[in-house]
Amino acid sequence: MAGSSGLGGGARGGQGPGTGPGAALRAPRAPLLLAALLLGAYSLCALPGRCPPAARAPAPAPAPAEPPRAARSPGAPGLQVARGPGRRRFPQALIVGVKKGGTRALLEFLRLHPDVRALGSEPHFFDSNLMPRTLDGQITMEKTPSYFVTREAPGRIHGMSPDTKLIVVVRNPVTRAISDYAQTLSKTPGLPSFRALAFRHGLGAVDTAWSAVRIGLYAQHLEHWLRYFPLSRFLFVSGERLVSQPAAELGRVQDFLGLRRVVTDKHFYFNATKGFPCLRKAQGSRRPRCLGGSKGRPHPRVPEAVVRRLRDFYRPFNRKFYQMTGQDFGWD
Ligand code: A3P
Repeated sequence: MAGSSGLGGGARGGQGPGTGPGAALRAPRAPLLLAALLLGAYSLCALPGRCPPAARAPAPAPAPAEPPRAARSPGAPGLQVARGPGRRRFPQALIVGVKKGGTRALLEFLRLHPDVRALGSEPHFFDSNLMPRTLDGQITMEKTPSYFVTREAPGRIHGMSPDTKLIVVVRNPVTRAISDYAQTLSKTPGLPSFRALAFRHGLGAVDTAWSAVRIGLYAQHLEHWLRYFPLSRFLFVSGERLVSQPAAELGRVQDFLGLRRVVTDKHFYFNATKGFPCLRKAQGSRRPRCLGGSKGRPHPRVPEAVVRRLRDFYRPFNRKFYQMTGQDFGWD
């Protein structure tokens, strides 16, 4: 890491005189002197407006093996001062779910916004060294779709920053489950059928222990999150509308994030071959871009009776979710 090698270089430089005459006397003073200089420079620069952002960097520290303390203490602002323009900071907004809801599409579309900085891949929540730098007024974002169904996630995120804005892309849980299965199948040929995995015996009880089914119990997951965050911290994005009306859904997201509505209709076109909206120009390029082959892949055929049974199973959970969020997603 550049930071640690910088510090290492300085320390090694201080050892140089240790080989000359009088080294025994000088050696213990060198680190003290260096520390005093760094402390002095840092105290001056820590005062607002005393140094340009680039000069305000504290002495680089070795990469932490675990989350930095600031990240773990409740209410910590989570700001990491670093060299270069802008600061590395923990995300002010997170796409916390759901897997196969359309999370990649949403993040890619949001990245078109000049005031959004997001990592392309996931997840580096606790690794401040990998967070992108943002200027004041820019929003750092990250997507980790598994958070929505991870018991520890809301507590941890709340502990880090209770003001985090949380975005959940939800999709008809039956289609979502099939999409999830299609993804696993693409990596695991010979997987048992969807029907065999979704039900315990034949068309018996729905197997909620199967993650493809469990993830779609949105009301239950949300109930847990609401112990930590008020509903006002959440935005629920319709995965279906993200496909049928991407600009409208992006408008809601930008409003929620307090951003200007920069990403609009003119950024999208419907690609008939892909069967999905694509970008007229991808970020940092002049060329149109669709999401990759793992997004929008064909689904295996699932018998109608299986789909019906699952739809019946999810209906009460969906209704509860509509009530909780005040939004009817129209899945039933
Ligand atoms: P399918 O592959 O089942 O169609 P995630 O990024 O959360 O894993 O979600 C993947 C899903 O995003 C895809 O599931 C697809 O339906 C949906 N999606 C939404 N907008 C899309 C777009 N513009 N291009 C491709 N897939 C999109």
